[in-house]
Amino acid sequence: MYNLIRNLLFRLPPEQAHHVALRAMDISNQLGLLEKLSPQVPVAPVDVMGIRFPNPVGLAAGLDKNAQHIDALAALGFGFIEVGTVTPLAQPGNPQPRMFRLPEHEAIINRMGFNNDGLDSLVANVKRAKFSGVLGINVGKNKVTPNEESESDYRKGIAGAYGLASYITVNVSSPNTPGLRDLQFGDSLKQLLFAIKDEQGVQQARYGHYVPIAVKIAPDMDDVAIRFVADALLESGLDGVIATNTTIERDDVAGHAFANEAGGLSGRPVRASSVRVIEGLHSTLGDRMPIIGVGGIGDGASAAEKIQAGAKLVQVYTGFIYRGPALIAEAVNAIAALNKG
Ligand code: FNR
Repeated sequence: MYNLIRNLLFRLPPEQAHHVALRAMDISNQLGLLEKLSPQVPVAPVDVMGIRFPNPVGLAAGLDKNAQHIDALAALGFGFIEVGTVTPLAQPGNPQPRMFRLPEHEAIINRMGFNNDGLDSLVANVKRAKFSGVLGINVGKNKVTPNEESESDYRKGIAGAYGLASYITVNVSSPNTPGLRDLQFGDSLKQLLFAIKDEQGVQQARYGHYVPIAVKIAPDMDDVAIRFVADALLESGLDGVIATNTTIERDDVAGHAFANEAGGLSGRPVRASSVRVIEGLHSTLGDRMPIIGVGGIGDGASAAEKIQAGAKLVQVYTGFIYRGPALIAEAVNAIAALNKG
């Protein structure tokens, strides 16, 4: 069934297909059809960051940037949904075309550039949704904000998301905002993590409850940089790490017509480097900080592989575009089998 839908959608340019698919999902959901048509996802609860997740397979950030489709996405059976990346102010992102399919590699290259309607709009959309499951809100900085002032954008994002999110993700790893990924290294990282922890305390006092914060990192890091991030995260007292975002590497897709398009590569080609980063993080973090594994999950085996590398939860994006909702149950079952075995 999904193959048929996918064949139709893939005739459209990727960004248009994205909007058509989400709109169709919203309508099917309003008609009560979506849940009936979606494969059953087993209940497989896990406790991570003080939150009970109904199953360990979530939707990664970037698909529902403005939180406009939460209810429809929830009907598909995701254990959690991460919306955003949202920036304090609305911004248009990069000129189109900015998303490219590489079906031979089950991959996507995107350089969206945090196109989104801004924090106020996302907050209004989340408030309007009926969803009562686990919601992550992923926050970033505006393109016009210089890196030296990025702290203020992240503080605004955390303050705006705090009252609504089950957890908040701080995104310092998109390759499509110039300079953003520099925030993952050295003193910039330590300073930023310190500011984020501080803002979490401010908001905890304001709201009277604790919302965990995870940091999302890139796969393009050597072992020394991974170790540095892991140590800095432990020192910061933050709650989790999401590994990984898209890659700027192109080795696995060399020769493809779109290989030289600028942006982040996701899907099957990022699988191995995500696993390498998760393993590296886990060797330092152990059980002291949970890892959420993402990058190139396209079937049960690649989901289980992330858990074996040290992740407690996983997220999917590109694999979900290629495989459809069946991937969710398949990944949940593969992880459950691992835990039993
Ligand atoms: C993304 N991703 C992403 N991540 C993020 O933190 N904020 C964002 O706004 C986006 N936007 C975005 C757009 C598109 C079109 C894609 C394909 C991806 C990254 C995504 O959440 C995930 O980390 C990577 O894509 C790797 O996982 P997959 O896609 O290989 O499962």
